[in-house]
Formats: sequence, C-alpha cells, structure tokens
Amino acid sequence: MAENDVTGTIHLADNLAVLRDLPTASVDLIYIDPPFNTGKVQQRTQLRTVRSDDGDRVGFQGRRYESIVLGTKRFSDLFDDYLAFLEPRLTEAHRVLAPHGSFYFHVDYREVHYCKLLLDTIFGRDSFLNEIIWAYDYGGRPKTKWPPKHDNILLYAKDPSNYVFNYDEIERIPYMAPGLVGPEKAARGKLPTDTWWHTIVPTNGAEKTGYPTQKPLGVLRRIIQASSRPGALVLDFFAGSGTTGVAAREFGRRFLLVDDSREALEVMARRFDGADGIRWVGFDATPYRSSHKQGSLFSVPAAQNG
Ligand SMILES: C[S@@+](CC[C@H](N)C(=O)[O-])C[C@H]1O[C@@H](n2cnc3c(N)ncnc32)[C@H](O)[C@@H]1O
Repeated sequence: MAENDVTGTIHLADNLAVLRDLPTASVDLIYIDPPFNTGKVQQRTQLRTVRSDDGDRVGFQGRRYESIVLGTKRFSDLFDDYLAFLEPRLTEAHRVLAPHGSFYFHVDYREVHYCKLLLDTIFGRDSFLNEIIWAYDYGGRPKTKWPPKHDNILLYAKDPSNYVFNYDEIERIPYMAPGLVGPEKAARGKLPTDTWWHTIVPTNGAEKTGYPTQKPLGVLRRIIQASSRPGALVLDFFAGSGTTGVAAREFGRRFLLVDDSREALEVMARRFDGADGIRWVGFDATPYRSSHKQGSLFSVPAAQNG
C-alpha cells in the first residue's frame, strides 16, 4: 500500500518500542486508557532474622536464627510498579505530541490522583486543562458507600496557550431543564461541561466487540471532534478493541493504534474489516476478513450522548 493511501496503522507490539520510534512532535492528539497495574506485581515479603535456639535457619558457626515476617506487599508498592510502568510511556507521549497537541488520559478514580501528579511533572501543571468525569449508571451498587459510577479523563495541552479546541463543532446536548432557557436555546441544546453522562457500551448493541474493557464510541467521538482537525493523526497506544481508531476514521482523521495483546488485534481486525487504508504491523489480519466471517462491526450509528 502506498504511504499516502494509509489512513490507519495498527501495531501488535509493546507500546514503548513503537513510541520510541516515532518522530518528535509528529502526533496531533493522544488518547490512552491504560490498564490498571500492568507493572509486574511483586510479592515482596520483608523478613528480619533474630537469634533463637529454636530457629529454622542455621548461620555462621551453627548459630540458629528465627525469621520474623515484618510485612508483605503494600498498596503503595503496587503503585510504584504501576507508575514506573507508565512513566517512560508518558514521557514519550509528551515528546511525540505536536506543539498544538492534546493528551487525554483515561483512568480509574482510585488511581487518578497519583497519575495526575506524574503527568504534572511531565507536562507541567500549567498544561493541565480539565478533569473530565465520565459518569455512567451500570453494574452493582454497594450498600456501604456511594456507588462509584464514573471514570476520570485528564486533559493536558502540550502548550496551554496554543491548542486545538473546536468549540463550534462539539455536538450539543439537551438542557437538563429546557423550560428554564427558552425555546430557541432549548432547541439548540448546550455544550457539554466537564461532566459527561454516557452509557457504557450496551451489552447487546452493535457497538459491542466482546473486548472486556471496550470504551464507548460516544466518548471518543466527542474527544476527537473537539481536539483534532480533519486529517490529524490520532494516537492510542493502549488501543484494546480500537475504539479510538473507529472514531478517528468517522471524522476523517488518521490514526495509529498499538496493543501488545493478540486478542486485541483480533478484535480490531474484525472491527476494521472492510475499511480501506489500514496497515497492520506485526500481525496478519487476513484470517479475520469478511470472506472468513460474516458482517463487520466497523459501521455503527452515532449514539445519543448525554
Ligand atoms: C483498558 S484496555 C484499552 C481499551 C480500549 N480503550 C477500548 O476501547 O477497547 C488497555 C489495553 O492496553 C493493552 N496494553 C497493556 N500493556 C501494554 C503495552 N505495554 N503495550 C501495548 N499495549 C498494552 C492491553 O492489552 C489492553 O488491550
């Protein structure tokens, strides 16, 4: 395929290797949704040995020692691993982002604070624009605390004085109380705030790929529409089922997706079946083409956002 015909590239690879190969300032928009705690969980048990005639260890000159367990791994240990996994990838993300580029970081409410501190050191506090709350209403409800029903999406601009934000192109949403704003405003709708109500991917709808952590197209559509221009290059290096690529393509943006899981690539191969201009790197998508399988998940109607 000629380079000019490529509208999307999808890698089966560890994202750090791909990021390191990308030219500086070559990407217009980045969205990532990293899994929690992919750093290897290390079982660290701290021991102290004390002299004891009944001890289980024998040391110098036959002296016996007893081992006392001081503690096993702590939550913060796990976090250190997670942040150590993220840090070089986020540093590369900052490097490859164009001067006018934006970076969206999708994370769980339990990690967001730690990740924000890390991102502030990489991007600079001034580059922080928003914490978007994606609120949904699905799944079990504990009776012992407020049911947590949101994810956090941190938005940074590489340069807070010069970044893309297509205010006029953002899809408007209905007012909560249209009667209070008058018929003209009510008909036009309002711009979303930093709190986005949007359903999770419906369990039995056309959008569902079966990938466990798939995010809704409606959320990615809003991000891409607001923060990139037609023809822009959109990068997602924790791509999963490829939601970012599907949304980018719908709006005429190019995309670069990376995932190190073969299962994710298989899902993306089925999802992009029938789409022109896709280049696969490190993966053969041929067995997943429609000549092998019926139907394509690529085209789904735009969802109603809240
Ligand atoms: C939470 S999922 C992303 C889901 C995605 N947003 C979607 O809508 O389907 C995170 C993905 O990161 C991938 N991943 C984890 N570590 C990676 C690495 N080092 N390099 C590339 N991908 C990685 C996992 O395989 C997984 O598919």
